[in-house]
Amino acid sequence: MSRLIIVSNRLPFSVEKSGGDFILRQSSGGLVSALKSYLEKTSGEGKKFREHIWIGSVDFSPQIWKKVKDKTIKTSNFRVEPIYIEPDVYDSYYNGFSNSTLWPLFHYFPFLAEYDKEYYESYIQVNFLFAEKILSFAKKDDIIWVHDYQLMLVPQILRKKRPDLTIGFFLHIPFPSYEIFRLLPTSWKASVLQGMLGADLIGFHTHDYVQHFIQSAKMILRVDSQFNTIQYGKRLIKTELFPIGIDYEKFQDANANEDVLKLKDLVVEKLKYSKIIFSVDRLDYSKGLMFRLQGFEEFLETFPEWREKVIFALNIVPSRDAIPAYYKRKRDIEEKISTINGKFSTFHWQPINYRYNHLSFNELSAFYKAADVALITPLRDGMNLVAKEFVASRTERTGVLILSELTGAANELNEALLVNPTDSSEVAKAINDALTMPLHEQIERMSMMQERLKQYDVVRWVNDFLDQLDNIKQMQEKTSVRLLTSRQIKKILHDFEIASRRCILLDYDGTLTPFTNIPSKAEPSAEVLAVLDKLCSDERNEIVIISGRDTETLDKWLGHLPAHMVAEHGAFIKRKNSDWDQQSTVLPEWKDQIRPILQLFTTRCAGSFVEEKRNTLTWHYRNTNPDLGFIRSRELLNSLQQLTVNTSLQIIDGNKVLEIRMTGIDKGITATKLINMFRPDFILCMGDDTTDEDMFRTLEQMAVTIKVGNTASSAKYNLMSQEEVLPFLKQFVTSIKTEKPHAYS
Ligand code: UDP
Ligand code: G6P
Repeated sequence: MSRLIIVSNRLPFSVEKSGGDFILRQSSGGLVSALKSYLEKTSGEGKKFREHIWIGSVDFSPQIWKKVKDKTIKTSNFRVEPIYIEPDVYDSYYNGFSNSTLWPLFHYFPFLAEYDKEYYESYIQVNFLFAEKILSFAKKDDIIWVHDYQLMLVPQILRKKRPDLTIGFFLHIPFPSYEIFRLLPTSWKASVLQGMLGADLIGFHTHDYVQHFIQSAKMILRVDSQFNTIQYGKRLIKTELFPIGIDYEKFQDANANEDVLKLKDLVVEKLKYSKIIFSVDRLDYSKGLMFRLQGFEEFLETFPEWREKVIFALNIVPSRDAIPAYYKRKRDIEEKISTINGKFSTFHWQPINYRYNHLSFNELSAFYKAADVALITPLRDGMNLVAKEFVASRTERTGVLILSELTGAANELNEALLVNPTDSSEVAKAINDALTMPLHEQIERMSMMQERLKQYDVVRWVNDFLDQLDNIKQMQEKTSVRLLTSRQIKKILHDFEIASRRCILLDYDGTLTPFTNIPSKAEPSAEVLAVLDKLCSDERNEIVIISGRDTETLDKWLGHLPAHMVAEHGAFIKRKNSDWDQQSTVLPEWKDQIRPILQLFTTRCAGSFVEEKRNTLTWHYRNTNPDLGFIRSRELLNSLQQLTVNTSLQIIDGNKVLEIRMTGIDKGITATKLINMFRPDFILCMGDDTTDEDMFRTLEQMAVTIKVGNTASSAKYNLMSQEEVLPFLKQFVTSIKTEKPHAYS
């Protein structure tokens, strides 16, 4: 059995001074609620993990920790590993980068975001502290689950040090659209994405957040993605939506809890003769409290018949009150509450019952039960658990939820009255609709929402995440099945050494050199030239550069080498020390018909361009907006296919290129021609693109064929990425030096 290591900025409790004593207080917030519920529910028999460990920061010293007498809140079903952080560093990491940069930006408040280098440095520092702590005891079969925006760099730091670890990451807040995310300074935004991509599985609350993340990763890191799977460097990473659930039973069962019922009666008694509208949120501008109050005010104005008949029980939980954007908001909210109360109160009635404090579970449950309407209208919220908890608490299935459409929860709770929180008239009308909703409709709506929440509760949420994590691990293993092992490499080297005539066919772009945005910039490095030169120097070797490039470029970059060269996929062949030989005599008049279409698509897709070679026309879209480029490429492909039906032209759908050329010329046919000429007893053939598949297929029986990249191919083996090509070829160079071939063992 493995261990589950939960990592979050906050532990489920903090230390507070009360009188002369230090006491533990349960932390608030959705993350803690969900994870704590999961651990409480699954600690008994049949639990999945040998041990649960929770790593989190604490804002008190070990000395103070010792002074806490009653530690019962720290239940025994998980082990706590606290991280002590210097107060200054913590302040700049927590109040700074986490909550004054990332939080406002990710919640679509860009004007509140601060871009301070010191904040960012502290964020890096604290993320490293977390990673060090994890590494100090993580074992290979542990599941490490990192949570939320405060720790987005941790997965990558861990991955670098321990590539074998199983790492999940879950973001509890929205991932914003690319247009917002890109506001982060260039190197920060790349690091944040790279940090997250250190995980094997990255979870979000909604489909939109998943798409926003993939879009940002494509635009900023130029990653490739297929559906929800991202190929980043050597690794496959899965992104998926997991709408967080609640402990449904706990809220239903609270109905049988006498303390809760007593408290509920107390609330009802105190607010008697009134309908109760309830809300509870942390003090946070993202919760839209000012707009909510405006909506309530407009309700009292537009529907005066409800005056003296309704009470708004407004609870605000203290949060992040060292940050000006928070404490200033508190002042504004309190002013607005007084204004409304002053304006509408009568001798025996005050419309808003305001409380600024933490609520215990029992108090919260009592309110959930006593309320007639829950008014939950954040301007943005990753999920919003309060909405779900209210629904789960309604054992009678009555009551109405008014919910902002800008919360993640709105995706699952469509039977709520969904409102735009900035539209005070809409909010006012929704309150009236809720208060006048017939009972049968309340029950119908509530039942449907309850059914959904019951199905996908917090345990299901965790299990679903962990299953998917296991899934991607297996997928990673499967795709590595064909990766060259050191034993296979040893065998290939041995076959090479004992062969008397060897032929090595190497594609150029994406194989010998990495792709560049501008094709003319992909010159071979000195290292590549040195390796090729060395390989050519052994007279037993026939080295062939087999490329789609034109003859001029190949001559310029590689012409000085004693290698054979193939240009335009076989339209031209240059044997070593001789001239280019054109393989086809067909005049390329077809180009005049195709060129205007490609040019039209170039104007319709910024960043794309046409490359013209003697026998080929190529439309490149590597440097375009990835989504638009892909759409345009499919449209172009479709147009070209219609146009070239019944002609001897072929279209190659390559790696971010569409290429049009005559049939009868491809790398497969060309490779066969060359092999027939050389008659080697060892053939190595490497390439990365669709056009290389032709030679993999033709040489299947006789050659060691290697696809560069981790995707399906007709080649026998895969090398994970282009970066691995040169180190691989260098082994053949080393082996040239070996005087006597050694026996393969
Ligand atoms: N909550 C709490 N103490 C309180 C009020 C609320 O622990 O005094 C809990 C509440 O039960 C819910 C969580 O805090 O589970 C709030 O989560 P939500 O997703 O609604 O908002 P967040 O605070 O995470 O932004
Ligand atoms: C949100 C965040 C959590 C955070 C919680 C409370 O739910 O997603 O990561 O813990 O708010 O905020 P705090 O700053 O008090 O931890």
